[in-house]
Amino acid sequence: MRVVKITKYGTLDVLKLDCLEKPKPKDDEVLVKIKAIPITTEDPLQRKGKPYFTRLFLGLTKPKRSVIGAEFSGRIEAIGKNVTLFDIGDSVFGHSGSNLGCYAEYVCVKQNGLILKRPLNMNDEEVAPVCTFMAAWNFMVVLANVKPNQNVLINGASGTVGSAAVQIAKSFGAIVTGVCSTTNIEVVKSLGADQVIDYTTDSFTENNELYDIIFDVANKSTFSQSKYSLTRNGIYLNPVLSASILAQMLWTRIFSQKKVKFSATGLLSISIRKGYLKQIVELFEKNKLKTIIDKRYCLEQIIEAHRYVEGGNKKGNVIINMIN
Ligand SMILES: NC(=O)c1ccc[n+]([C@@H]2O[C@H](COP(=O)([O-])OP(=O)(O)OC[C@H]3O[C@@H](n4cnc5c(N)ncnc54)[C@H](OP(=O)(O)O)[C@@H]3O)[C@@H](O)[C@H]2O)c1
Repeated sequence: MRVVKITKYGTLDVLKLDCLEKPKPKDDEVLVKIKAIPITTEDPLQRKGKPYFTRLFLGLTKPKRSVIGAEFSGRIEAIGKNVTLFDIGDSVFGHSGSNLGCYAEYVCVKQNGLILKRPLNMNDEEVAPVCTFMAAWNFMVVLANVKPNQNVLINGASGTVGSAAVQIAKSFGAIVTGVCSTTNIEVVKSLGADQVIDYTTDSFTENNELYDIIFDVANKSTFSQSKYSLTRNGIYLNPVLSASILAQMLWTRIFSQKKVKFSATGLLSISIRKGYLKQIVELFEKNKLKTIIDKRYCLEQIIEAHRYVEGGNKKGNVIINMIN
């Protein structure tokens, strides 16, 4: 099968096309013929082994898994002898966890892992990035407990996590303001945002509005800058781990009515994340959520896909379609 391998951490040129033997599913695994994979902001980080603490999982000096990529959609081609939850021919999507292995034509996944049947109203390409909604769910629903009529601001509303967060907040009845650059205003409006702020001309910290929740997906503000734009019990969310976020989280938990919150969604247990995913799928089935596809590539164009994603201005998602 065709794969993209990396044998060392580094720049774009470490991504190499290669061939490997097709994997065989173990007793509790399914073999998925991959149809589409999203290239997320995590992919260039897996390639570079950054931030460095992630090498504890990825491999200290070189990648433990030469085939990276963790999200997929596809068709089940074979099942292990103990598999009861899926059948050959099922259309599925999911996340292969620390096994990675999705820059390939086939991947094996445990039946109890992060894998679900594809909603009937979605195709392979649309469903491939659905696992990215888990982070937005974790922040908006679990950490912030978003409620109807709350005033919510999403800074970085046109990217992968931001576009999911806008829609999830809207589906809970919040009043949503999205922040993005001029070129992405229409995209953010199409997600249902009630207001859009163009950060190239205006600043949400200077518009005299108060928000119950500020989700700084883009990590372009700080709690100190944002706290005057929060209501009395407002919550500032930031998805990027830093010493200052952790310190502010601890400090505000005890000493402030306004709270700072962070969580690493990828470190939550599979059963917790699968719970999120099932609730997200219900909203997709009711057409309350959609995935935005910005660019499409084939596996041979993996370097271009990584280059584009690293640019930091993708609208929604970037997809690799497997031609097989
Ligand atoms: N903690 C977790 O569980 C978790 C999970 C997943 C991801 N993450 C992190 O979340 C972050 C966002 O990921 P993503 O996949 O959504 O990234 P992305 O798709 O690249 O989106 C980033 C967005 O930031 C916007 N942006 C750039 N400069 C901005 C500015 N000055 N002000 C406001 N917005 C600006 C861009 O919009 P324009 O193009 O309009 O400029 C872009 O849409 C990453 O750091 C990722 O590592 C954390």
